[in-house]
Amino acid sequence: MINKDCERIVVSEKEIAEAVERIGKQINTDYAGEEITFISILNGSYPFTADILRKIDLDCTVDFMQVSSYGSGTGSSGTLNIKRDISADIRGKHVILLEDILDTGFTLSNLVKYLAEKGPADIKICTFIDKPARRREEISADYYGFLFDEDLFLVGYGLDYNQKYRNLPYVAVLKPEIYTKTTD
Ligand code: PRP
Repeated sequence: MINKDCERIVVSEKEIAEAVERIGKQINTDYAGEEITFISILNGSYPFTADILRKIDLDCTVDFMQVSSYGSGTGSSGTLNIKRDISADIRGKHVILLEDILDTGFTLSNLVKYLAEKGPADIKICTFIDKPARRREEISADYYGFLFDEDLFLVGYGLDYNQKYRNLPYVAVLKPEIYTKTTD
């Protein structure tokens, strides 16, 4: 049953599981014999992080960052605010950033620049959803689950609207009346 505030499911639980399996296999192949430091970008990436990590059969660690580039609505401020930094030393490490969505690219391009100064061996980007048509910074995903060219307001599997709907096990399009609703 779809959540009452959503109009349609665009990525089902089964499709999510298949994408996670595919990405996990690819990472295991690409990094064979290496150790990986995953950095999960909270909040939205937590389900994707948990699912991807369980597909990795290489030595790996996971650390967490919390950053923001959005207000509580649908616009992008384009400013990176680091609310929680990593605690691990990533010097000389193979880093993979785990994100729920790559949209304008402001968040990840600022983040990659910031983390690059800590001296990792390399930094790759793994995003569950990629919206290349929305890009305003030159940055691309090394691994992605699903591409969306249409600018739909997506929620579920970590993606929120005003912190809600992250718990949905699928990705759905939010009904416009939910995010255009006024309080007066
Ligand atoms: C989302 C997402 C990325 C960012 C992508 O985070 O998790 O970090 O926006 O957008 P961009 O490519 O336009 O910069 P958000 O600030 O909504 O926080 P959340 O993960 O806590 O939902």
